[in-house]
Amino acid sequence: MAEKKSSSWVLMVTAQTPTNIAVIKYWGKRDESLILPINDSISVTLDPSHLCTTTTVAVSPAFSHDRMWLNGKEISLSGGRYQNCLREIRSRASDVEDEKKGIKIAKKDWENLHFHIASYNNFPTAAGLASSAAGFACLVYSLAKLMNVKEDNGQLSAIARQGSGSACRSLYGGFVKWIMGKDYNGSDSIAVQLVDENHWDELVILVAVVSSRQKETSSTSGMRETVETSPLVLHRAKEVVPKRIIEMEEAIKSRDFPAFARLTCSDSNQFHAVCLDTSPPIFYMNDTSHRIISCVEKWNRSEGTPQVAYTFDAGPNAVMIARNRKVAALLLQRLLFHFPPQSDADLNSYIVGDKSILKDAGIQDLKDVEALPPPPEIKDNIPAQKYKGDVSYFICTKPGRGPVLLSEESRALLDPETGLPK
Ligand code: ADE
Repeated sequence: MAEKKSSSWVLMVTAQTPTNIAVIKYWGKRDESLILPINDSISVTLDPSHLCTTTTVAVSPAFSHDRMWLNGKEISLSGGRYQNCLREIRSRASDVEDEKKGIKIAKKDWENLHFHIASYNNFPTAAGLASSAAGFACLVYSLAKLMNVKEDNGQLSAIARQGSGSACRSLYGGFVKWIMGKDYNGSDSIAVQLVDENHWDELVILVAVVSSRQKETSSTSGMRETVETSPLVLHRAKEVVPKRIIEMEEAIKSRDFPAFARLTCSDSNQFHAVCLDTSPPIFYMNDTSHRIISCVEKWNRSEGTPQVAYTFDAGPNAVMIARNRKVAALLLQRLLFHFPPQSDADLNSYIVGDKSILKDAGIQDLKDVEALPPPPEIKDNIPAQKYKGDVSYFICTKPGRGPVLLSEESRALLDPETGLPK
């Protein structure tokens, strides 16, 4: 059995993992329980200083069963996705020795030891911002470090994938490809890094969190219904995506923004077309999403070359990628013109993340927002439309790094003595 002189001890690890947004979308599984996709996908990892999950995992002989707290509330770990991740990672554990604490855990001990897990998302879980991607990546990464698992991030990605498909892409920073793989057991359905977060560091990412009253179809059931009923989805997976993957990799490697934007927007639009082609049709975007698309399309057309790419996941939020900071500041001005905050919202909570974008856009307070001139492409005879309150808030961020360990004990979410949430 695991040893220490005194009878009880707690050993723990804390990690931070980013979320990601797909620019070539994953939609449709060929295996529901292993979470194997019908096509490759490509994503950009978002800067974890603005959007991330922090997870502390602890082990102690005093723990009687595996327990997890998500954003401070205890949740059940009995679901298949958690069980698959825990089983796969446990089976890869190695010997662990903490000399300072005088703790020794032999490989064979792990099957009789239990975990306490506390996880916290620094953004609203309900905002539709792929919290399960960051969450499962962080769970697998932190457990792997705690148990001295020798596998590399690619192999860990195949475990995180079994928690949430897109979680496999959160094991790396920068731009990441999830290779669909061919093996029946999913061993080759893994994430690989295409370029790191410094490769294309001019890009600025602006997320519009769109107010929505509608209960959305979950991605899991939406994908299943699409695969069962859409005649278009197989054409997309077999004919369209393979070509786009090649072109997107090239666009990213050569920092070709026009090609990147064309592919990103087309792929988002085709994903939503496939949702509409599902029976009954699935609507993820709403009027606000459509207005944002029109605004970006008009602007890109008036410039003659794309300035901003947009992409929408299984919800109404818009993720916009601007070619540089100057364009991002202009984009923010345009969006604030059309989607001003509810009068009671202050600007500080309306723009979160990298707030320096406000300074670049010459906006100091709400009065500056009210005084914004209409975007140039609005003709004098068309009244400029405003949709107050249709966007809940904006997040300004950029491509970011992959998972990291947080070594300071002050960052841990569990008490080092009791292993219970702080
Ligand atoms: N789903 C949403 N957030 C999560 C998290 N942090 N960990 C695991 N699953 C999640």
